Amino acid sequence: MKKEDKKRLRSEDWFNPGDVKQGFIHRSWLRNQGYPDDYFRGRPVIGICNTWSELTPCNGHLRTFAEYVKRGVLEAGGVPFEFPVTSMGETLMRPTAMLFRNLASMDTEESIRANPLDGVVLLTGCDKTTPSTVMGACSVDLPTIVVPGGPMLNGKYKGERIGSGTFVWTLKDRIKNEGFTQEDQIEAEICSSRSAGHCMTMGTASTMACMVESLGLTLPGAAAIPAVDSRKKALAQLSGRRIVEMVREDLRLSKILTRKAFENAIKLNAAVGGSTNFIIHLTAIANRIGVKLDLKDFDTLGSHIPLLVNLMPSGRFLMEDFFDAGGLPVVINQLKGHLHNDAITVNGKPIGENNQRAECYNKEVIASIEQPFQEKAGIAVLYGNLCKDGAVIKPSAATEKLMTHRGKAVVFETIEDYHARVDDPGLDIDENSIMVLKGVGPVGYPGMAEVGNMDLPEKILKKGVKDMVRISDGRMSGTAYGTVVLHVSPESSIGGILGLIQTGDHIVLDVPNRKLHLEVDDAELEKRKAAWTPPAPHTNRGYVSLYTATVQQAHLGADLDFLAGKSGDTVTRDAH
Ligand code: FES
Repeated sequence: MKKEDKKRLRSEDWFNPGDVKQGFIHRSWLRNQGYPDDYFRGRPVIGICNTWSELTPCNGHLRTFAEYVKRGVLEAGGVPFEFPVTSMGETLMRPTAMLFRNLASMDTEESIRANPLDGVVLLTGCDKTTPSTVMGACSVDLPTIVVPGGPMLNGKYKGERIGSGTFVWTLKDRIKNEGFTQEDQIEAEICSSRSAGHCMTMGTASTMACMVESLGLTLPGAAAIPAVDSRKKALAQLSGRRIVEMVREDLRLSKILTRKAFENAIKLNAAVGGSTNFIIHLTAIANRIGVKLDLKDFDTLGSHIPLLVNLMPSGRFLMEDFFDAGGLPVVINQLKGHLHNDAITVNGKPIGENNQRAECYNKEVIASIEQPFQEKAGIAVLYGNLCKDGAVIKPSAATEKLMTHRGKAVVFETIEDYHARVDDPGLDIDENSIMVLKGVGPVGYPGMAEVGNMDLPEKILKKGVKDMVRISDGRMSGTAYGTVVLHVSPESSIGGILGLIQTGDHIVLDVPNRKLHLEVDDAELEKRKAAWTPPAPHTNRGYVSLYTATVQQAHLGADLDFLAGKSGDTVTRDAH
């Protein structure tokens, strides 16, 4: 046993307890997998929490990664055990993967706490698999390190760089206006998914990978390494080595996830042009670890930060280009004047020191702080009678001239109503109208689906118009773009003013003044409210029933209310 191991490990309560019978049970059954006795004699036990699933295509390669983590753990004198947790494939799960983020976080939390683990490595990839596992791990608060699975290689179609997700949002327009055939579509499908890994735009998965690196939860440079790059495997191995040291140092999540770390993450998310989903997930993580974060913080801390990364959907390039240009370390170095450079990371060093030598290899992809792609990026948080608890918009993905706009509402009561009528030639709508979608919030959908970036009506697209103001209580894919107001809180299905809007009402969007206002007087709104009835519950049983009864609104992170905070790592009773 090394000197540092002398502090009694949590796992020893299972493997070397006072009770002879208990120790026998805990060791003996594990040994059916061929482990020698010395695995259970004071070596740090590391759980490799794997979100691998063939139904989560973005995480399909993570079984292989677990083997590299195991190598590292063993090299450092630890003992690795890989275990599965609920995985969520963004592209397949209905009604939306977000409905299951909190369920998966509970699975992660309880799996970690209930088992003889001293430290944890989280293998993540697709959008929700990063926040769900980090949220769960926060509620236990063991030493934890994240290995993000990495983006796919750049999408390439007939010489064109195509981004996963972002390309999909152009399909309707390409088919209507550019003669895009079915053969073209079939070819483009595989061209936009060329390798293992997650979406290679700065969509939510890449945003989440940057988020965990910004928070200090990965080894430096982890976020942008493509899934198939050999350096990602090396990173997994090094993370395996490091987590064993973190256990010896007792470097727990709560020591890394300070308010400073969250502020760094908000600023870096602005600089990379990250997804609006970042707000919801970071807020939920902060609530778990016990750091106070307010929706306004995202605006006050992030909206004066310049945009330094030229990636789709806001820009031109993709994650492979970002990695080749130097990745997030370059952004961290460029932004050092804005960051808490002394925030500690999983390697035990401050974030500033880790990244101080990062150099940019392509200024078309990563700009310098002196010459950014945009002076101000980040996320604008709006308030007004339409959203008393807030709504958000991503200015870098929006159309400048629509940022101040007054228009007539065209209301879709549900997503089905939208699909049924949006392309009706008789629909009374023009490019100055404001499309309003109700019933897609946390309770209403349920799960707050990524449908806020509604496709424009065909007759508008035919005019060559590419953007209109859209408002909803839903979310938007991180790969999407447009002048899209999201996360309206309180949502329409629980009695928010959004639910009272009628077609023909006028709405004022004023992003520079952070305002979203429905031009209907209070007396009329009261009248409509009195006539309003809440929609019937989706179901009275199972997880969905629990979810809709306890989910918090978007501005609070859309976690289940009883999951806030942590229960720690102690379990006093044994099974036998
Ligand atoms: Fe998994 Fe985009 S669908 S990351």
